[in-house]
Amino acid sequence: MSKPFTITTAISYPNGRPHIGHAYEVIATDAVARFQRMMGRDVFFQTGTDEHGLKMAQTARGRGIEPRELADEMAGYFKVMNERLNISHDRFIRTSEPDHHSASQAIWQAMEANGDLYLGRYEGWYSVRDEAFYDEKEIVEGEGGVKLSPQNTPVEWTVEESWFFRLSAYQDRLLALYESQPDFIQPDSRRNEILRFVEGGLSDLSVSRTSFDWGVKVPGSDGHVMYVWVDALTNYLTGCGYPDDADRMARYWAEGGDITHIIGKDIVRFHTVYWPAFLMSAKLPLPKQVFGHGFLLNRGEKMSKSVGNVADPMELADRFGVDQLRYFLLSEVTFGNDGSYSAEAIVQRSNSDLGNAFGNLAQRTLSFIAKNLNGSLPAIHGQDAADSELFALLDKTIRTDMPAAFADLAPSVAIEAWLRACFACNQYIDAQAPWALRKTDAARMETVLATLYIAIAELAVAILPVIPASATALLDHMGLSADKRTYAAIGSHWYSALAESDFVLAAPKPLFPRLELPAEDA
Ligand code: MSP
Repeated sequence: MSKPFTITTAISYPNGRPHIGHAYEVIATDAVARFQRMMGRDVFFQTGTDEHGLKMAQTARGRGIEPRELADEMAGYFKVMNERLNISHDRFIRTSEPDHHSASQAIWQAMEANGDLYLGRYEGWYSVRDEAFYDEKEIVEGEGGVKLSPQNTPVEWTVEESWFFRLSAYQDRLLALYESQPDFIQPDSRRNEILRFVEGGLSDLSVSRTSFDWGVKVPGSDGHVMYVWVDALTNYLTGCGYPDDADRMARYWAEGGDITHIIGKDIVRFHTVYWPAFLMSAKLPLPKQVFGHGFLLNRGEKMSKSVGNVADPMELADRFGVDQLRYFLLSEVTFGNDGSYSAEAIVQRSNSDLGNAFGNLAQRTLSFIAKNLNGSLPAIHGQDAADSELFALLDKTIRTDMPAAFADLAPSVAIEAWLRACFACNQYIDAQAPWALRKTDAARMETVLATLYIAIAELAVAILPVIPASATALLDHMGLSADKRTYAAIGSHWYSALAESDFVLAAPKPLFPRLELPAEDA
């Protein structure tokens, strides 16, 4: 039995509605989680909202409401988005939930018991936008002398009594971790950036605040709430049963466990420096990998509320379709790099890949069978070289190349392989021309159609992690039972049993109607 598989997204600040960047992260994570389930793994997939901290408190104050009210409202939008985008998460965590407060207090006490927390006074730069402290040496001057963080966000001088975490003591252990687990930080470009940062020396980290109270209370220290990143990072443990559910922890957060955090490139430092140091301090297992994906840009430009180019994922899903959006985001952007989206690019990719390459293949083959064979599935009469060649390619694509790519967190590579197999099927149908065989060689026509039927069903299974609703609808239509929809079952000779059963193929409806570019984008 293979190991359980734990995968998480970052938890989003619910200080506004979700944007396309949030959708992108959760869609990519969903595809990997679905893939691992199809490999027969016991998967735990968590996403959610990061509700504490100054940013939430200030946004709520600006709207004249309580932070909890703001969090309730916005977390609702994140949940609705996940449902709409067909996200298969096992838990949506909100950091305001009681079990999360207990987990955060437990990790705090474990770090304290290890001698890593001490009371002091913080004097330094803080960015509310990033909820991050910065060293003097990292601050740059922007226009008009404003002080900016390395992320280009404004910082303010902050002085307050605070608990500190002895991060400086973890430099060597962190460097040893990056060395012994070279894949801990992915992709490699992000790894180098973090290595340089840690090699440069680490300052102790301020981990509590006294100037506001919207957070998890520091145990035994009145007036202190935890620095929001301490509780935010702990969300991953909460979902795995920390601190009370030992069985669940052994299953999903074990030493040497297969635990992956999918996050954006802007928060790699928190996940690969602070987080492993907290875990080491609390004597808890470390994740296997942190993958920092790139940013989505609107036609190459950074999205920002002030420019007004922040795309609403729900609007895009309504305009183009959920699977079209999922497919576009996962195929267009090499996971790890930045990528751009635009209405034309979504329309173009959906029409060419989903509509022409895959949809038409299914449509042509299935309508031919429905019409000319009255929906009864054709028999296989031997195998030609062309048939075996196609099966060999499908086998390699679906059983080797695609699983390797998904396991490697490279959905665009998996999709490329899938698309090449779709092209090969299109070449096969054109070369074999079953419509011509109908008059000359009915047996060969049957074999060709049966070959295509198998190919289409297997291609639909293989692409389920990316376009779950459309691929499921097609497989339902084709009569493939649910137990056959796994990577393991592909190639399991399910076809003859289905062809000999009383299943009758109904006339198909086009899966991916052609998208037109709305006038305002043309
Ligand atoms: N709350 C923190 C994460 C805490 S995790 C313990 C946070 N929240 S966020 O709402 O600002 O971002 C949530 C995720 O969305 C992050 O992984 C972030 O990198 C990602 N993205 C935000 N904007 C993005 C794009 N434009 N494109 C792709 N991902 C982006 O950070």
